[in-house]
Amino acid sequence: MAEQTHNVNLDEHNEPQSGASQMPVGIVILLILAGYIGCYEVDKNNANFSATVHAPFTEPDEVASLAPSEMELMRSQGRTLYANCQGCHQANGMGTPGKIPPLAGSEWVRGNPETIAAIVLQGLSGQLKVAGKSFGAEAMTPFGPALKDEEIAAVITFVRNEWGNTPDAPLEPKAMIQLITDTRKKVEASGHTGAWTKELLDANEFTTPE
Ligand code: HEC
Repeated sequence: MAEQTHNVNLDEHNEPQSGASQMPVGIVILLILAGYIGCYEVDKNNANFSATVHAPFTEPDEVASLAPSEMELMRSQGRTLYANCQGCHQANGMGTPGKIPPLAGSEWVRGNPETIAAIVLQGLSGQLKVAGKSFGAEAMTPFGPALKDEEIAAVITFVRNEWGNTPDAPLEPKAMIQLITDTRKKVEASGHTGAWTKELLDANEFTTPE
C-alpha cells in the first residue's frame, strides 16, 4: 500500500471566534454624516418636522397665510347654496324686471340682516320697492324648513357681499349664524306663519327700507 501524503494548506484563515469586533472608524463617521445630512434636509424641507408643512412651503406661517379665512369659506359655501335662489334672482343677482326684484344693489340686502333672514326663512309677497322699482306680482318661497341655520347664514353672507354689495353692518360668520338662530326664534315667537309682507315685517320689528 502506497503511503498517502497530505498537502497541508498553511494559508488558512483564523478559526471563527465568538465575540465582537469593532466596525471600522471610517464607516462609523460616514454613517453619522449621512444621518446628519438626512435630518438636516428633512428639517429644511419640512419646517422643523411640522406635520402641516410640505413642499413647496417651508414655514408654518406661510401655510397659515394661504388658508382661506372663515369668511371666505362661508362665502364660497354660500355661492354653492345660491343655487336655491338663482332660478328666480338670476346668476347675476339682477332678478327679472317687474317680477323678481334684484339682490344686486338692493337696499334690503344691504340693510337689517334680521329682515333678510326673516324673508329667507318665511318667504315674501305683496307690494314693495327695491332699488327704486316696484314689485309684487310674484311671491318668494320660504327656505326655513329646507336649510339649516349655517346654510341660511352662508347664502345671506354671500348675497350681502356679491355683485358689489357691501352690507351696512358687516357680520362675522359666527355672529351671522347666531343671528339666524335668534331670528328663527323671533319669527316663531311672532306666531306668524306663511310669507311675510312689507307691512307684516315692519309690524314685527323687522325693519324694511322705505
Ligand atoms: C320662487 C322664486 C324665488 C326664489 C327661489 C327666491 N326668491 Fe327671493 N324673492 C322672490 C320674489 C318674487 C321677491 C319679491 C316678493 C314681492 O314682490 O313681494 C323676493 C324678494 C327677496 C328679497 C327682498 C327684496 C330684494 O330683492 O332685496 C330678498 C333679500 C330675497 N328675495 C333673497 C332671496 C334669497 C337669498 C334666496 C335664496 C335662498 C331667494 N330670495 C330665493 C322670489 C324668489
